[in-house]
Amino acid sequence: MTSDLDPRGPARLVVLVSGAGTNLQALLDACQDPAYGAQVVAVGADRPGIEGLARAERAGVPTFVRRVADAEDRSTWDAEITDLVDAHEPDLVVSAGFMKLAGPAFLARFGGRYVNTHPALLPSFPGMHGAADALAHGVKVTGATLFLVDDGVDTGAIIAQRAVEVADDDDVESLHERIKKVERAMLVDVVGRMARDGWTVRDRRVTIP
Ligand code: GAR
Repeated sequence: MTSDLDPRGPARLVVLVSGAGTNLQALLDACQDPAYGAQVVAVGADRPGIEGLARAERAGVPTFVRRVADAEDRSTWDAEITDLVDAHEPDLVVSAGFMKLAGPAFLARFGGRYVNTHPALLPSFPGMHGAADALAHGVKVTGATLFLVDDGVDTGAIIAQRAVEVADDDDVESLHERIKKVERAMLVDVVGRMARDGWTVRDRRVTIP
């Protein structure tokens, strides 16, 4: 698979959030520089009232919200969120702390250009509690992973990883905060390179030229 970005202008990013949105903020900040090669054209969420949406609003970026609870069923929500994202014609969709699994409609539309950032070194510790699960297991090194979302839970092809050492006195909060620092830098670096240079996937091996 080869990416097919429009070489004429900055790549269009739609970012999905469910919480604090510090990863979103890092992207918003990076996009201030035209040389970065991307712009956040919209921010979507699965819940209202979160700081991630407030960050988008402060940056003047359009937002949309669709709660699963307000949809008829999960597949209707999947189709609705797919259309809401698609309306902004993204080149790349970024899940930045978006705590919902992509459904079949979403993956049919955005598969291969939907990336997710996760606070652990996948395939270890997938799911909602990557930092806590790594700490509970007693690993000495964990980190962050950026990957292309597929239909599994955090099983897609890995684009980039960064390691973070676990300190003896870490609790979940201190470890996750240290991971998030590294994660934001990774996200900005790698999404920018994908936007500027494209990427290829061969046998799960992702390459950014
Ligand atoms: C990030 O650490 C992200 O990896 C994690 O939520 C945090 C969001 O932080 N996502 C997951 O755990 C998904 N499985 P943010 O809202 O400050 O960007």
